[in-house]
Amino acid sequence: MNDNDLAVTCHAVRKHFGEGEARIEALRGVDFDARFGELTFLVGPSGCGKTTLISVIAGLLDRTGGDLMVLGERPDDLSDTGRVLFRRKHLGFVFQQYNLLPSLTAAENVAVPLLAAGSPRKEAVRRSKELLSRLGLDRRVDAFPSTLSGGQQQRVALARALVHEPRLIVCDEPTAALDHANGEAVMQLLAEHAVHPDRAVIVVTHDARVFHYAESIAHMDDGRIVDVRPQGASSSSLKERLA
Ligand SMILES: Nc1ncnc2c1ncn2[C@@H]1O[C@H](COP(=O)(O)OP(=O)(O)OP(=O)(O)O)[C@@H](O)[C@H]1O
Ligand SMILES: [Mg+2]
Repeated sequence: MNDNDLAVTCHAVRKHFGEGEARIEALRGVDFDARFGELTFLVGPSGCGKTTLISVIAGLLDRTGGDLMVLGERPDDLSDTGRVLFRRKHLGFVFQQYNLLPSLTAAENVAVPLLAAGSPRKEAVRRSKELLSRLGLDRRVDAFPSTLSGGQQQRVALARALVHEPRLIVCDEPTAALDHANGEAVMQLLAEHAVHPDRAVIVVTHDARVFHYAESIAHMDDGRIVDVRPQGASSSSLKERLA
């Protein structure tokens, strides 16, 4: 494998929370790669460090040790402002708890990354509504998050992560609150996004119904990657289906 194929490389990445008796070693030396053009899954028991790892990769948490490369950049080499701009432009994040802004409608929430990138408001809202329609939410685009079901909020969060076509999307349990049909629609969108030589998608999931979308499944336990299994056959058929 050529290093240029790698969208993300983590080497011996460590992260702890707290100090002294309260210290928790969430990441204990993680080696993990995600390749361009692929959907990489991250699975493992509750508390093993999945959310911590993707938060470190996305630059939302600082690691306490090890090396990290993201989209050819070493985040450590960027200034604080440089890191914020890099994240805004190139990353999409779907949080486990959705993190929608309560005072904005569904379409306005989705439009946030486009507005931050300088798109005119009308165009940003139009694109957001279009994407929400693809996710089966055309009748709820003007609804506020508190009036949406968990599964609807999850799809709004996904649309917000996709709308600015970032090069790297990290998703925390993106199908957890969804029925089969909506889970498939979400994975289809993520797979279509990933099939691009310049992009990658990392998905944390417990949802065995969507494992066939993975090109590689990294298994995590107790703060480490313990196994990586390629899912080659299904990925080539996925690429053929999408071609
Ligand atoms: N902000 C924090 N402060 C202290 N400890 C934390 C914090 N965030 C996570 N942890 C701890 O770090 C460990 C890893 O947590 P993490 O959220 O990454 O697990 P996870 O694999 O995502 O679990 P789940 O499947 O339940 O979402 C856990 O022991 C957790 O209690
Ligand atoms: Mg988690």
